[in-house]
Amino acid sequence: MEKKKIIELLNSDLQDEHGAIIQYLIHAYSMGEGEMACEIEAMAREEMRHLDWLAETIVELGGKPSLKKGKQNMAGKTVAEWMQNDVGLEDGAIETYKKHIQMIDDPKIKRLLKRILADEQSHRGDFVHFVDKARKEGMKDIRGKRKDSVTKKLDWGIAHEYTVVLQYMFHSYMTKDKEAKKQLEDQAINEMQHLGWLAEEMVGGGGNPVIEHTGLDQSTKLPDMLKADLKIEKEVAEAYDKAAREVNDEGLKKLLRRIRDNEKYHIDVFNDLMKEEK
Ligand SMILES: [Fe+2]
Ligand SMILES: [Fe+2]
Ligand SMILES: [Fe+2]
Repeated sequence: MEKKKIIELLNSDLQDEHGAIIQYLIHAYSMGEGEMACEIEAMAREEMRHLDWLAETIVELGGKPSLKKGKQNMAGKTVAEWMQNDVGLEDGAIETYKKHIQMIDDPKIKRLLKRILADEQSHRGDFVHFVDKARKEGMKDIRGKRKDSVTKKLDWGIAHEYTVVLQYMFHSYMTKDKEAKKQLEDQAINEMQHLGWLAEEMVGGGGNPVIEHTGLDQSTKLPDMLKADLKIEKEVAEAYDKAAREVNDEGLKKLLRRIRDNEKYHIDVFNDLMKEEK
């Protein structure tokens, strides 16, 4: 099979991993804290690892990892219905990976897809079990309809964090500089934490977290990447500082300041990388 065709197949798998990550995170945040939510978040992290492996393989083949989000099924009102939809998403993934394993002859890529397939089969089993558990326990959607100046700030934060997770991951895949690759990946993981904190804060406060991103910088040269990343960090460090001053809730103030301080650290990291580049 031609390289171009393999890249296409892997990018379509990557997009589906992206869709699954967001679907599972929303489900985990919306059912409230507990063992099931923790296990679903762990599965989302496994999908992130899949996405990572696929992206690295695509870059090795000379392609560009897609930033699009693939198949999702966000329907359903009860947790049991969500879990059934997650079984369905895994069924689709299992079928597609099996097909792609048949189609691709490269032994290394075949092996990788088989490795991912085994995870998806295990996820499917977990979700089947969760359908039953959620039904027995009558688990419900705990999201509320709150909309005010606080949820507006959280909406902004969630959109920002999701944007930089994608942007820094993309930059980390595209740069050949080892130190920059590592640092960009580290900061992307920290932004994922921010995303989780803000989404949980939103649900805890009676709101409904929407995970959508804004414009992404897709530079492929390191100095351009760092310039874009620094710009965004400086803007958000200030915005978090302002938001922390504006909210009254002490817990939320503390959270926003903690994130602000992380963003300041990101500024230092990117500044150092920038200096090394010159
Ligand atoms: Fe999965
Ligand atoms: Fe952040
Ligand atoms: Fe940051």
